[in-house]
Amino acid sequence: MTDPKIIVALDFPGAVPALALAQRLSPALCRLKVGKELFTAAGPGLIEQLMKSGFEIFLDLKFHDIPNTVAHACKAAQGLGVWMVNVHALGGRRMLEAAREAVSGNTKLIAVTILTSMGAEDLVDIGITETPEQMVLRLARLARDCGLDGVVCSAQETMRLREQCGNQFCLVTPGIRPIDASLDDQSRVMTPEAALRSGSSYLVIGRPITRAQDPLQALLDINKEIEGAA
Ligand code: C5P
Repeated sequence: MTDPKIIVALDFPGAVPALALAQRLSPALCRLKVGKELFTAAGPGLIEQLMKSGFEIFLDLKFHDIPNTVAHACKAAQGLGVWMVNVHALGGRRMLEAAREAVSGNTKLIAVTILTSMGAEDLVDIGITETPEQMVLRLARLARDCGLDGVVCSAQETMRLREQCGNQFCLVTPGIRPIDASLDDQSRVMTPEAALRSGSSYLVIGRPITRAQDPLQALLDINKEIEGAA
């Protein structure tokens, strides 16, 4: 598989369980996402180890700071050789442009727009009166205008964003559940196949794979399910 569509979320408290899970998977079948918990606990050394095993890494640290700081953080991520890194679109145009200038070459730079945990009332609390849907669209367009490669978005948003942001824009989608999988704490979910058909570029999948009795088999099953859709 030259461009696996599945990004497995390594949501673990430390390097030991993360490496144990990675050893049961294959870099030919997926990429791996390292987020704030694991990175804070295990650091860049873990990223290097995972990359040595052949995995491409999405470093999901959602940088959000002044432009200069974010640019340097992005540069450091690129220095690690990660496949993808992200920033928070709410950091604004100048921050996004600075991040874009800092990251070149093979590392993809994407943005988070409005976290799916934020509802309309949460936005009003911080002085934002547009709806979450309007804000997602606004911030995705801003990210695209600043030259970013894509955004993280829910599968429910992909169709609209695909229309608005074009075919080249990378849409990375969590909240994915195979038809027979437990929802865990996700509420609005989509199956892997439906998400790809509605325009997702990559699927972030955690527990349906990491908590499966046989994670490799779970990954193989999902890859088989999406064969026709990818
Ligand atoms: O285990 P599960 O498949 O629910 O994991 C989904 C991953 O995607 C987690 O790392 C979670 O933090 C992340 N994520 C999400 N929803 C968002 C943004 C990120 O589930 N809106």
